Amino acid sequence: MAQRKGIILSGMRPTGKLHLGHLVGALDNWIKLQDTYDCYFLVADYHVLTTGFEKSAEIPGNIHEMVLDWLAVGLDPERAKFLIQSRVIQHCELNLILGMITPMPWVERNPTIKDMIADMGLGGKIHYGLMGYPILQAADILLYRADLVPVGEDQVAHIEMTREIARRFNHLYSSVFPEPRAKLTRVSRLPGTDGRKMSKSLGNSIHISDDDENVRQKVRRMVTDPQKVRRGDPGRPEVCSVYAYHQIFNKEETGEIAENCRTGALGCVDCKAKLAGALGKVLDPIRERRGEFEKNPDQVRQILSDGSAAASKRAGETMRLVREAMGMVY
Ligand code: TRP
Repeated sequence: MAQRKGIILSGMRPTGKLHLGHLVGALDNWIKLQDTYDCYFLVADYHVLTTGFEKSAEIPGNIHEMVLDWLAVGLDPERAKFLIQSRVIQHCELNLILGMITPMPWVERNPTIKDMIADMGLGGKIHYGLMGYPILQAADILLYRADLVPVGEDQVAHIEMTREIARRFNHLYSSVFPEPRAKLTRVSRLPGTDGRKMSKSLGNSIHISDDDENVRQKVRRMVTDPQKVRRGDPGRPEVCSVYAYHQIFNKEETGEIAENCRTGALGCVDCKAKLAGALGKVLDPIRERRGEFEKNPDQVRQILSDGSAAASKRAGETMRLVREAMGMVY
């Protein structure tokens, strides 16, 4: 294997099928990185339990769907390691140790947790495990002594806290952990079909695995510039969700589309048909690959099992360094 530039860890919570927001916000980035870095892609099943503990039985099915999407878009288990958090026990060990050295105010001020609590209407029903979410995430990252963590903007506070925890450990004991940096995806945020942020809970997602007819239907219902009621009306591409998609999935045509939208020469119906076509071009090969892996569930399980085993090796090595640094070798 050629010399790699460093170690990358990133992860997702397995909540089922992924959508186009995941593709452009994360997966496209991961795919590019797998050739040049040693990549660990984490299925964060324990993180699901922080809010979804009552639905734990859904996790295996959701892992399968998510990993099918990973494979379908071109993440490659020959080059990167796919691992399940709960299959690498060292995540639990390091989580516990890092919890011991993390001051409570760091946990309490975490903005992401505050947002999650607000979004989910959790009110007073917050559990201990949810408060520990960022510590577990820090353990995920530090366990592989990762240099870079490709994530979306919403995760930056977590990475910042990971750096602080790493620094604290290194200062208290000895330098075991590099301070990992967030690698932000530069793509503009993809709106959902209703113009709000694309999110599973809002029901405004286009899934990576949606079939062509389904995609066409969803695109037909997308919101456009409300001032453009009929063809001939001048439109404003900068406020239109469909145009935001063209900019990402149909780059070659964007100039022309923007111009014809502004003059009114292009109507929304035709513009949406163009988009559906462009999405088809992107999604067809992905659907085909997904179909192949769907026929081989055992192969998918094997990929996760092999990846988790390989990850365990590095995780075990890190824990040895951690114990030595702490002087806890028996
Ligand atoms: N918190 C991430 C999310 O909600 C998932 C995650 C868990 C993660 N562990 C991680 C991301 C480690 C990056 C690195 O999307």
